[in-house]
Amino acid sequence: MLFLINFAHFFEQCDFMGDKKLFIETYGCQMNFSDSEIVASILKNDGFEIIDNKDDATVILINTCSIRDHAEQRIRRRLSELKSLKKRNPDLQIGLIGCMAERMKEEVFEKHPEVDIVAGPDSYRSLPELIAQAAMGQAAANTILSEEETYAEIQPVRLHSNGISAFISIMRGCQNFCSYCVVPYTRGKERSRSPQTIVNEAKELFEKGYYEVTLLGQNVNSYQWEEAGKIVRFPDLITMVGDIHPDLRVRFTTSHPKDLSDDLIRAIAGHENICNAIHLAVQSGNDRILHKMNRKYTRAYYLERVAAIRKQIPDCGISTDIIVGFCSETEDEFQDTLSLVREVGFDSAFMFKYSERPNTMAQRQFEDDVPEEEKLRRLDLLVQLQQEMSLESNRRDIGKIVRVLIEGTSKKNKKMLMGRDGRNKVVVFQTVDTSLKGYVDVTINDCTSATLIGTLL
Ligand code: 5AD
Ligand code: SF4
Repeated sequence: MLFLINFAHFFEQCDFMGDKKLFIETYGCQMNFSDSEIVASILKNDGFEIIDNKDDATVILINTCSIRDHAEQRIRRRLSELKSLKKRNPDLQIGLIGCMAERMKEEVFEKHPEVDIVAGPDSYRSLPELIAQAAMGQAAANTILSEEETYAEIQPVRLHSNGISAFISIMRGCQNFCSYCVVPYTRGKERSRSPQTIVNEAKELFEKGYYEVTLLGQNVNSYQWEEAGKIVRFPDLITMVGDIHPDLRVRFTTSHPKDLSDDLIRAIAGHENICNAIHLAVQSGNDRILHKMNRKYTRAYYLERVAAIRKQIPDCGISTDIIVGFCSETEDEFQDTLSLVREVGFDSAFMFKYSERPNTMAQRQFEDDVPEEEKLRRLDLLVQLQQEMSLESNRRDIGKIVRVLIEGTSKKNKKMLMGRDGRNKVVVFQTVDTSLKGYVDVTINDCTSATLIGTLL
């Protein structure tokens, strides 16, 4: 654990040593990207320069993801690559931070001797001390989870920002304990950040010229803040952010179906600038599997929520997450997932093979018994079906006019601009003026399964 030493002395030493250059590399979800911006802010205040080239760094931090084994393997490979940098520069410090650090704790030092620092998602404020400690040649780790830490007052340093869209983290942690998921163990209990700090951050971004904020949390609908006997819930918060300015687009992610309230649907329907896009992870279309996943809802309940959304917001973009090949999933149960995908007609989906995670409920209680080739076969079928659904959804947009927030030039064709509409659909369009910024109206006249193609109105 954390060794407490004479830090004042170390700080002096570090400053005296001159160069403090930080390179951060981030893996995983948007929450991790948002956390890296908090880490950058904490270390900038400690005198670090944040740099883009890892070769010049004095400290390299890898912000990690544990959600699937594949994510961890990528990070392990990356650590091996970094060994050569360390050989060239023995003073270089390498830190593993985030979910994988929290999951493995001090075991990281045994498995990856090139790592000097280990910091879990709730211990970023102690990074200056951990870095000072590592500079003295001691392995430095802090993986204590907190029930209060929200980094509320820390002003994130916007990394790799396009100056258009920014994340605002509004709550941390998750206590849903879906049986397959490692997040409740790596990110701890749910806690929310004060609404005023969130609104202030959104206002500042808007004043700096940003057009869009995404409110982030593992389960935004559990957002709750109590002050002076008054409770602020997520629909109240999103209304407060939506009221800042009609030109500030507000997005949010992610919502658990069990908590998707009618109040939230009403708040979205009542604000032009709260985007008509809901990411509602379903995970499976079969009740036995949903129960085994500890998702706390049924297929019928999920479909009822989708119907409630479409009743109030007919044009709402609905996207989802799906896992195939969960413990004991039969062919018929997998077919239920395919039929649900057809029935809902999702605009887009993130689809995964089940990956057993250490110490989760599923790992402790069930057998990971769907063979790898079978998981792959099911994933292929699902991806194919979802592509058809996305194509159908996009074809229905041909002839429509959509409002697009421009994000930049299209990767494939530099003469075209790229942006997203309110439903989060990617739109590309031809224009003579590629320096255009902000919102434009685009008529859709063609599409692929991933992109709407249009002309500027
Ligand atoms: N295996 C595969 N996918 C997973 N997810 C979470 N845990 C696992 C796992 N063990 C997926 C879920 C979740 C998304 C973020 O990652 O679909 O919604
Ligand atoms: Fe994991 Fe479930 Fe929490 Fe999402 S809601 S982070 S899937 S435990």
